[in-house]
Amino acid sequence: MTSTNFTEVFQKIATLVKINPEDLLLRICELLKQEVYHYDWVGFYILDQEKNELVLGPYVGKPTQHTHIAVGKGICGQVAESGRTMVVQDVTEVENYISCGLDVQSEIVVPVLKDGKFVAELDIDSHSSAPFTPDDSEFLAKVCELLTDRF
Ligand code: SME
Repeated sequence: MTSTNFTEVFQKIATLVKINPEDLLLRICELLKQEVYHYDWVGFYILDQEKNELVLGPYVGKPTQHTHIAVGKGICGQVAESGRTMVVQDVTEVENYISCGLDVQSEIVVPVLKDGKFVAELDIDSHSSAPFTPDDSEFLAKVCELLTDRF
């Protein structure tokens, strides 16, 4: 595994946000997957408030059948409920988990909050075992803060 300069990657994302391309969210997914070795699937889920479910937005990585996830279900749904980041270093150890493939070993899900309310989340799957450190959480929380107004 190569180590990541999160400060540098964050600067690149902040620049993208400033430029504000039409496909901003997809570009961020691409950048994250490209720049961080242990990010293998990167995508956004967006809350459909009326249906109380998450809907898959832009993503990069293997296509997933989980395009709609009920609030409360899986790791994604739990983050939608709590509004708090979840780090799962070993997906085989959690019960309320929705598998997106046998190659996924770990996952981090970070909420996007608008006026303190959950609106969307950034979901990252990794094929590495226990790859996440507090640096990942801190970095991704900062990325999500930049995106508050995009949902
Ligand atoms: N593993 C997630 C489902 C989404 S996929 O990772 C793309 C979960 O447990 O909620």
